[in-house]
This record gives sequence, structure tokens and C-alpha cells, in this order.
Amino acid sequence: HRYLLGLETLTAQEITTLLDVAQILKEATEGCRRKVPLLTGKTCANLFFENSTRTRNSFSLAAKRLGADTVEFGASGSSTAKGETFADTAKTIEAMGVDWVVTRHSTPGTPHLLARELKCCVLNAGDGPHEHPTQGLLDLLTIRQHRESIKGLTVALVGDIAHSRTARSNVWGLKKLGAHVIICGPPTLVSERWKELGFEVAHHLDEILPRCDVLNLLRIQFERQNARPFPSVHEYAALYAMNAKRMQLAKEDILIMAPGPINRGVEITPEVADGPHSVILEQVNNGIAVRMAALYLLSAADDRLRAAGRSHS
Ligand code: CP
Repeated sequence: HRYLLGLETLTAQEITTLLDVAQILKEATEGCRRKVPLLTGKTCANLFFENSTRTRNSFSLAAKRLGADTVEFGASGSSTAKGETFADTAKTIEAMGVDWVVTRHSTPGTPHLLARELKCCVLNAGDGPHEHPTQGLLDLLTIRQHRESIKGLTVALVGDIAHSRTARSNVWGLKKLGAHVIICGPPTLVSERWKELGFEVAHHLDEILPRCDVLNLLRIQFERQNARPFPSVHEYAALYAMNAKRMQLAKEDILIMAPGPINRGVEITPEVADGPHSVILEQVNNGIAVRMAALYLLSAADDRLRAAGRSHS
């Protein structure tokens, strides 16, 4: 494909290939620090209509590590303030000769719209609460680096599932690679309908904790909670914050993950975030690796499709 829109639509083999290539590129770039000029002469445009620290900077670094140029577009200060539409903005940037458009937007489906409107590669860097595929991939890569296989692991996604694109990419990636996935959080933020899709639903973290190999602690997304009732920060922290006391209930080799940004003291306390089980900063570094892999594989697919005379797939 020349698009990476979500993990729900990828096969287990496609996900595994992305992870394998990410691992190879991570090693080739000595931990994502050195340049390997595989994509010299290509250009990656970051179109971010929502804030980002990790995703935007690591897409930019991933492109540069592979020798490509980058264009950084932020909605603030752009001509969107003059009424230019999202699609027209993207087409304008594409007309400057870019090979990949990486997009983040608060509206679900915006990267799918660009995949129809643009001729270049399109990557979803987060579309509202829908999907965040490179986050799912970097989480899978991090687990895989610590465990022989994802198959058979019990992984709990804890927190604000209702608003989490990270959760929605993780569940599909984990399920396809054979993990047992527990979706855990307050009933206001975790729908029982996840059961219909084959996932375990839990509302009490202390009860599932002894069974978990991996915990992925999701941020409460205050910015997306306009109408929905939710527990107070104090109530949430009392029931779900991963803290030193709860660590005593966990397996000795549990992996503590968080996509970031973290709210210290809400979903995770500092002694756990900075403790020996935490792989949060490894996740950040793996973000560059999976984004290098995504840019590389999409570019290769694009070259093949163009050589075959097909503009869309
Ligand atoms: N995890 C993640 O997407 O972080 P940013 O919002 O900082 O990109």
C-alpha cells in the first residue's frame, strides 16, 4: 500500500513486516542516531492540525535519518485562518513536490479523505479518537524487544479508552499478533461492546493486575471530554493510577508502558514512570524506528505502483 491509515485494516503479516523493517533500520542507524541515506531526494510533509511532541518530531527525524527532506506545517500561523479547507491545504503542500503527507487532525477519517484526494503516500499520525497506527506499531515493537513473542501475552490497556486512538490501534495490532487484550477503565470510559469484538473488559485494575504481562497506561483526554460524564481526577487516580503499592500486585517482570504525554499522579506516579519496569522512553526511541519503516515501505510500494502505471492502491 502507499497509505498507512490504521492497524485495523492491516494483516498480521503486514504488521510483522513493518516491525521487522523497523528493527533492521533501528540497528542500521545505531539506535536511530545515525543517517542511512535510503530515501535521499524525497520529501516528507508533516501536516499537524493538533499538538504533538513525540509523533511530529520523530516523523521528522525518521525522514532525516533516511536522507529525506521535511516540510513542517502547523495550522497555527497558516492560511487555514483565511478559510482554506483541510483538503486544499494538503493539495497545496503536495503540489510543492512532496512524497509523503503525514497528517494529524481532530476529525476521524481525515487521512482517509487525503488518501482519496492526494497522489502521494499518506500516513495517519492520529485522527481524533480513531487510530494512531505508528503509536500502535512502536508499542508492539517495544513489547517484542522485551519478550520472545507477543503471541500469548496478556496486555491491558488501562484508562480513557473511549477517547484513545492509541487504544484503538493497539487492540487491533495486539489481537492480530495473538495477545490476550484486556480493556480496563471506569464504565464511563470503557464500553461493554468491546466484548462483542472478542476483548476482555474489566473495571477493576487490582483484580486483573496479577495476570498482566504488559500494562499500557492511557492518558485521560480532558480535551476530548465535553459532554461525557467521567470520574474526577482524584477518583481516577485512586482506582487506576499505577503506583508503588499496585506494583506489589504485578508480575515481577511486568512492562509498564505509556504512549505519552503522561499525567504524573493521575494514570501513573513518578516512582513507576521513572522506575525499572518503565519502558516509556524506549517507546519514544522506537517511534523513530517504526516511522522510518513506514516511510521506507510506503515509498517502495509507491515506486512499484508508479512503475506499473497505477496511481492509486
Ligand atoms: N503519543 C503521542 O502521540 O504523543 P504526541 O501527542 O506528543 O505526538
